[in-house]
Amino acid sequence: MTEDPILTATRVSKIFGGLVAVNDVTFDIPRRRIVTIIGPNGAGKTTFFNMLTGLYRASTGRIAFEGRDITRARPDRITKAGVARTFQNIRLFSTMTAVENVMVGEHARMKAGIVGSVLRTPWVRREERRVRERARELLDFVGVRKDQQEQLASNLSYGDQRRVEIARALASEPRLLLLDEPTAGMNPNESLRLTEFMIRLRDELGLTILMIEHDMKVVMGVSERITVFDHGEKIAEGDPATVRANPRVIEAYLGKQEAA
Ligand SMILES: Nc1ncnc2c1ncn2[C@@H]1O[C@H](COP(=O)(O)OP(=O)(O)O)[C@@H](O)[C@H]1O
Ligand SMILES: [Mg+2]
Repeated sequence: MTEDPILTATRVSKIFGGLVAVNDVTFDIPRRRIVTIIGPNGAGKTTFFNMLTGLYRASTGRIAFEGRDITRARPDRITKAGVARTFQNIRLFSTMTAVENVMVGEHARMKAGIVGSVLRTPWVRREERRVRERARELLDFVGVRKDQQEQLASNLSYGDQRRVEIARALASEPRLLLLDEPTAGMNPNESLRLTEFMIRLRDELGLTILMIEHDMKVVMGVSERITVFDHGEKIAEGDPATVRANPRVIEAYLGKQEAA
């Protein structure tokens, strides 16, 4: 599945002191697909995400998004280029409402600078209204109920907090969305709804999705391609049926999980 990749990583490694967290990984993400990375804890999955989004700088290798080299780009630049993400540990502003959290995500695209915000000219107030309205639309889209939208983020259920994070990521109007363990802490029903939602993101917004996920029901149900990491290396890649049948995968990951 190498047709028209939206992102390519070529021989990327990350070394922390003496620890090789990601080892010489070459990887691409086909456009408008849902691609999943799986692997045991500590396999280097989040570190790999952090390099794709500029939080960590790759020790070696090259990363390109839509043909542009982003290997050394800052996170805000990568967001502006069209890549958004959520975090394994939810990172919402707990003293802000759901709507305000999403407005932060839109801020990257707002035209008014600090001066405009302080003076609150009519134009700025209009833009703020527009941004708030758009935040509400995004929260509707991800399925956060109206009565929850003005609640403080910290008062929302875990599932809703995850949804707010996705809405905030969508607010930057990405073409590539990275989700780090999006169903963690969700019950099976919430996970199923999120799976359906990812398919809508792909089909209705034309997004490409890369996720890290542990729930095998979600992984096997929604992924068009699965890449398996173990000890920082890519050990397998393919469609769900192929990966599921791979002996190395069964040993490194699936076997362990079944035994647990
Ligand atoms: N900032 C860091 N400094 C040092 N070691 C790190 C850092 N981030 C991750 N690691 C190490 O890199 C390895 C891979 O971690 P991680 O990417 O979080 O794995 P995964 O997401 O697959 O569970 C682990 O051994 C982890 O301790
Ligand atoms: Mg992780």
